[in-house]
This record gives sequence, structure tokens and C-alpha cells, in this order.
Amino acid sequence: MSDPKALRNAFGAFATGVTVVTTRQPDGTPRGFTANSFTSVSLDPPLLLVCLAKTAHSAETFANAPHFAVNILAEEQKAVSGLFASRAPDKFQNCAWTPGPSDMPLIDGSLAQFTCANHQLVDAGDHLILIGHIQHFTTTEGQPLGYFRGNYFSIGIEKDLAEAAAAAKGSRLGAVLACDGGVLLKTEGEHLRLPLAPQPTLDSLTDKLTALGLQPQIDFVYATFDDRSTGGHAVYYHGTVTGPLPPGYRILPLADLSDAPLTNPAEAAMLTRYADDFRNGSFSIYHGTETTGQTRQLGA
Ligand SMILES: Cc1cc2nc3c(=O)[nH]c(=O)nc-3n(C[C@H](O)[C@H](O)[C@H](O)COP(=O)(O)O)c2cc1C
Repeated sequence: MSDPKALRNAFGAFATGVTVVTTRQPDGTPRGFTANSFTSVSLDPPLLLVCLAKTAHSAETFANAPHFAVNILAEEQKAVSGLFASRAPDKFQNCAWTPGPSDMPLIDGSLAQFTCANHQLVDAGDHLILIGHIQHFTTTEGQPLGYFRGNYFSIGIEKDLAEAAAAAKGSRLGAVLACDGGVLLKTEGEHLRLPLAPQPTLDSLTDKLTALGLQPQIDFVYATFDDRSTGGHAVYYHGTVTGPLPPGYRILPLADLSDAPLTNPAEAAMLTRYADDFRNGSFSIYHGTETTGQTRQLGA
């Protein structure tokens, strides 16, 4: 009926967290695999589930184990996810873990850990559904590791970066606003600038755009950087605007962004990146200075 690859891609449109599911073999050897199929099932009785491919090396071990644990990974644990998604024989020698209740291996640094008794095993197509009865759990503060369309993403970064930027003195807030197949820019004589907010707050940006007669929709933080050329910290959001073009503004087509005469070099670099991101259909957040920094993938 369906093309499995296309179906897998469609399932990937559901953004999830990432877990590592662990147990012990009968001889006590710890086993584990990465899973994003985790679902909370019931509060009373407390149940959860995870789907495990029948082709996984650890499938038989989990099917027969009386207990298992689910570790919800934190943002910093991307490497742990990669390790447990591999077929490495020595996964537990390469990460920090601690034996927990029922001697289940608990991955250090996880956001939450659930130790379960095997409640029910459901045979479901090419997977087994492990339903666990939660016997013990812990949670800690932190940001989760996210997974969407085959890429990891970070939920925490936008908030942290925006807060850090707001706290910084002399901060400025601007926006890369997609509009009619191009980007909205303010004209400054021969030069162009991205629209800036009168004060470094999201409300003032939205208010300003609305006052210009536009309908803004701000989506996510696109770049935060220390701009040594102006001595301040800059935050730029990404969004879209609709409505009639206000005086003093123009829309520059995507194809012209890399050569646009921008007053600020950091904005020029940002627009070149934006044109690439748009072409690749995948956006990233930039963090650094006006010339060098890192990008983190945001998802498609
Ligand atoms: C983010 C992510 C999520 C995954 N989710 C699942 C899942 O829910 N169920 C599953 O069986 N495999 C899932 N996998 C793949 C397994 O982790 C992988 O097949 C692993 O090799 C299984 O370990 P094992 O072969 O040692 O049992 C996922 C992999 C990644 C990277």
C-alpha cells in the first residue's frame, strides 16, 4: 500500500524528544537503544510505551526482560543518542550511567528516568510495543533534546539566547521578514537595513511593524551576536509580513540578497545565510560575533 520510506518521512513530521531505553540481559549485561517512539499512556495505573523494531539487536532481550527503564535525554546528550542508536557492542562503556531501582541502568544527566516493570508486550507489525508499568521515576530541570525530520533540534536555545540578549546592555532587536518572495528592507539613502525595533523587545518590534500598516508573524530567533562594530548585542528574529509596502521600505528578491548594499556587514552576512537556508529549506540559528559564530539547525 504505502512506500515505507515515504511513510517514515511523514512520521518524521511529528517533532519528538529523544529517549534511551535500557535493560539487563539475563547475565546482567546492560543493553540499550535510542527511541523517539516513547509515549505516555496512563496516569492510573502509570503506564508508558516504547516501540522497538524487531530487527534491533536488543529486541529479544527487551521482549523477555522483566524490567526496563526510559531515560529522557537532555539537550547536551546528542552524543548519547548517537551512541545508543548505533549497534556498538560496548555502548555502556562509553557513557556515564548508574544502576537504579531493579538494577536498571539509568543514564546520568537525563531529564527524567522511568523504571518500569514489563506490563505488556504487543506484537505490532515490524515492531514490538513495550508497555511499562512505572515503578519509580525522577525528573530534573533542563532543556530537552528534540528530534524532527531526521535532525536534532534544541528547544531551549531560542529562549536562552533571547533572554541573554535582552539582559545585555545596548542590545538591538531586528527582523528578517519574508514578504512576497523576498525580504523586507528599510532604505537608507543608497543603502539598505533590516527593520529594527525601537526598543529591544519583541513587543516593540511587533508594535512598530503593525504601526507601519503590516501584519507581522514572528516565528523564531534567527541570529544573536555581539556586534563589535556597534559595541552592542544584537538579536534578529525571523518572521513573515503581509500588507501594503510602507514608505521607506522595499522588498528585495531572494536572488538579490547576497549582493544587497547593506549598511551593516553583519546584516549582509545574515541575508546571504538566509538565502542559502531558504534554498535548502532548512533554517538555523546563528550565535557568535558579527563575523564568526556557530549555527545550530532549527529544522525544516
Ligand atoms: C532519534 C532516534 C530515534 C530512534 N527511535 C527508535 C525507536 O523508537 N524504535 C526503534 O526500534 N529504533 C529507534 N531508533 C533506532 C535504534 O536506536 C537503532 O536501531 C539501534 O541500533 C538499536 O540498538 P540495538 O540494535 O543495539 O538494539 C532511533 C534512532 C534515533 C537516532
